[in-house]
Amino acid sequence: MSKTIIISNRLPLQIKLEENEINVSPSVGGLATGMKSVHEEGESLWIGWSGLAEEDLNEETKPKVLAEIQKNHCATVPLTENDVDHFYYGFSNKTLWPLFHYFLEYTSFENENWESYKRVNQKFADVVLENAEDGDTIWVHDYQLLLLPQYIKQKKPDTSIGFFLHIPFPSYEVFRTFPWREEVLEGMLGADLIGFHTYDYERHFLSCARRLLHLDTNFNEISYNDRIIKIDSFPMGIDFDKFYNAAREHSKNSETEKSDIQKKLDDHLYASNEAQMILSIDRLDYTKGIPNRIKSFEYFLEKYPEYQQKVRLIMLAVPSRSNVPQYQLLKRETDELVGRINGKFSTVSWTPIWYFYRSLPFDNLIDLYTSCDVAMITPVRDGMNLVAKEYVATRVNQDGVLVLSEMAGAAKEMNEALLINPNNFEDVAKTLKMALEMPKDEQKARISVMQERLKRYTVEKWAQEFFTALNSTKDVINTLV
Ligand code: UDP
Ligand code: G6P
Repeated sequence: MSKTIIISNRLPLQIKLEENEINVSPSVGGLATGMKSVHEEGESLWIGWSGLAEEDLNEETKPKVLAEIQKNHCATVPLTENDVDHFYYGFSNKTLWPLFHYFLEYTSFENENWESYKRVNQKFADVVLENAEDGDTIWVHDYQLLLLPQYIKQKKPDTSIGFFLHIPFPSYEVFRTFPWREEVLEGMLGADLIGFHTYDYERHFLSCARRLLHLDTNFNEISYNDRIIKIDSFPMGIDFDKFYNAAREHSKNSETEKSDIQKKLDDHLYASNEAQMILSIDRLDYTKGIPNRIKSFEYFLEKYPEYQQKVRLIMLAVPSRSNVPQYQLLKRETDELVGRINGKFSTVSWTPIWYFYRSLPFDNLIDLYTSCDVAMITPVRDGMNLVAKEYVATRVNQDGVLVLSEMAGAAKEMNEALLINPNNFEDVAKTLKMALEMPKDEQKARISVMQERLKRYTVEKWAQEFFTALNSTKDVINTLV
């Protein structure tokens, strides 16, 4: 029976070693959480990196790790410490991530990292080719593997390959600064279908292919090496029922079933019947606009002092890529800002910001989503942002307000949110006030429309549409043969 091979840098499970024991937890990030639902549905093998370098493993731990990976219908690509440094931290996260998110000042162009990127993409190709059988469909994900479609296509030209980018594709003016721009475009063009979250990213890619590779494009198709490649946008959805049902069950929890976090959240609400909570959840990443958010919250408390003692910002920042200097700087800046603002406004009974620097299990995420009156999602640049969608899905009473940055891909589909420019503190503060004061019937009207849309366009539907489009490119391949 033919299968789907999903390939991403990070597997949906994250493995850590403690002594010689292995500790397994779900991976964080939109790609892993979204694709996990797709992986669990059908016949598929997920190929990726376990999160451990080969040097971390010994004769005792290696078989345990491999068994765990196999048990989850996954296969691993072994990365050495050198690969992790140069491919993962280096090229993926010091070059492609900042460049594609328009952070040119953070982008480094190191040839050694590029060489490692090519080598590791080839390692992924080797594992894919070992596992791929005739008739399999191959689905490559994200910016760490831009060369992989080409490496597979060269060896298995008849295999149907899809590629999906989970981050923005930048405009031509930004992309043209990249020293390896032609190689990377050619790498992606090994796929038969290339998908993006939004039409803008798709448009940018088409423009780069035209202007840098001088390729002919016909609407959203590119002719390249005697093949027709389809480029399209597929905004990723979430597993709506999973979030909605978890939130509904959560509302039935008795006092003894409540988590410690939930009890603390309840305490804030009981402190005053006017108390409100604002939520933000993100990986600690400079694209997420965390310092701006904290500063605009400070500005809000100053401009509208009547809200002091009444609102609290609950901020979950999940540790991410902590070997990259920009992330370390961001951690320091965030700690300092939270400390300064809490120092400035706190009273004996109230601290304005509750800051958690860790990842939380699913049930605790539901505690946060369901307890907070407003979600404040303010990235300066974000491919999609699934947290915004998850917040809306958990609002079983259709109350709550989503304040969302225009710069998130999700904003394109969530017009009923209060959309803001995260760099405009005045706008953010005013919008936050509007959110906290929004009448219940307006909250309901906005949330219900967004929920209907999220219910219709789930992550499963997203994957189905991608596969349907990929299969239609197969028909084109067959008629060309
Ligand atoms: N998430 C998680 N554990 C946490 C916090 C967040 O698994 O402690 C998940 C969250 O539910 C969401 C994903 O991480 O599905 C974040 O995806 P998003 O698209 O918002 O941002 P990304 O991290 O991909 O940039
Ligand atoms: C984003 C990226 C994913 C990545 C995730 C977590 O969602 O699009 O490719 O896996 O962040 O980042 P990490 O570097 O920990 O894999």
